[in-house]
Amino acid sequence: MKIGILTSGGDCPGINATIRGVCKTAINYYGMEVYGIHSGFRGLLDNDVIPLTESSLTGLLNMGGTILGTSREKPFRRRGNVAMSEDKPAMLLNTIHERGLDCIVCIGGNGTLKTAAKLQEAGVNVVSIPKTIDNDVWGTDISFGFDSAVSIATDAIDRLHSTASSHQRVMVIEVMGHKAGWIALYSGMAGGGDIILLPEIPFDMHRIGDTIINRLKKGKPYSIVVVAEGIPTRDGKKAAQFIAEEIEYETGFETRETVLGYIQRGGSPTAFDRNLATRMGGHATELIAQGQFGRMVALQGDVIGSIPLQETAGKLKLVTENHDLIIQGRRMGVCFG
Ligand code: F6P
Repeated sequence: MKIGILTSGGDCPGINATIRGVCKTAINYYGMEVYGIHSGFRGLLDNDVIPLTESSLTGLLNMGGTILGTSREKPFRRRGNVAMSEDKPAMLLNTIHERGLDCIVCIGGNGTLKTAAKLQEAGVNVVSIPKTIDNDVWGTDISFGFDSAVSIATDAIDRLHSTASSHQRVMVIEVMGHKAGWIALYSGMAGGGDIILLPEIPFDMHRIGDTIINRLKKGKPYSIVVVAEGIPTRDGKKAAQFIAEEIEYETGFETRETVLGYIQRGGSPTAFDRNLATRMGGHATELIAQGQFGRMVALQGDVIGSIPLQETAGKLKLVTENHDLIIQGRRMGVCFG
């Protein structure tokens, strides 16, 4: 059995640990051949495929990024009625047949899952593994990369506390998450944020202003505001800038903004993410060995299982107001807007 493996979409800590999990299980346990496809689906268009051996897998467990490279290539996307200059689906299928690949393992987030589902529809055997710091893949409780991003963001929030209190300022920190507020919720709560704004919960600037003023009355002349990048803003402003300006207007407090950015995606994965990635990689290989294709590996409770790709592709997993961290946060006086 020959399997191809690719990584697509934004990178995150833990991808290399998954590649290692898939390949070591495939080579050592199942005696399969594994081929690395460079730069996501673009590698299938360019026939950029190399064999992976045990020696290619050394030192991967704690290494950030992806040794295979990634891209946001979407080969099945059609732009309006404009005819595509190249028949990308045919190019992909050609590489897969020419290389004799029996299955493609697609490691990626929501965009990748949509493409993987299309590849499966086109008759290719596919198994997907969810990967994203945003934790917004529907069907898995957690995707690897999320825990690492939360830990980096929490560390940043911890650091903002001391400077906020020294200068008696309001510190606004913007974290990633695309359209979901998972990173903001988990890092905001772990970092002791006073106000946490998520795209899923509408907010009221007067209430946010009152929260900051009430803290002053209680002898706390500084505040930490954690905002998800996906919250609605005006005039095309970035989340942190928008909220910082609105807070200054509402309260007159001196406010500073920090956009954490790509730091959240870089570097070594946490122990939790290494183990999750390893387990998911192993499970993907097991699915292939059993001939169970068209599935996405998923963490459900403590168990690694899988769900049909068609069921998850195109759906976002968003934070809901009844999440226990939100309920608990509200009880402790955290303002969610
Ligand atoms: O999906 C991961 C993510 O880091 C999001 O949190 C962020 O919005 C986006 O990718 C950034 O994308 P790009 O790498 O294309 O700038």
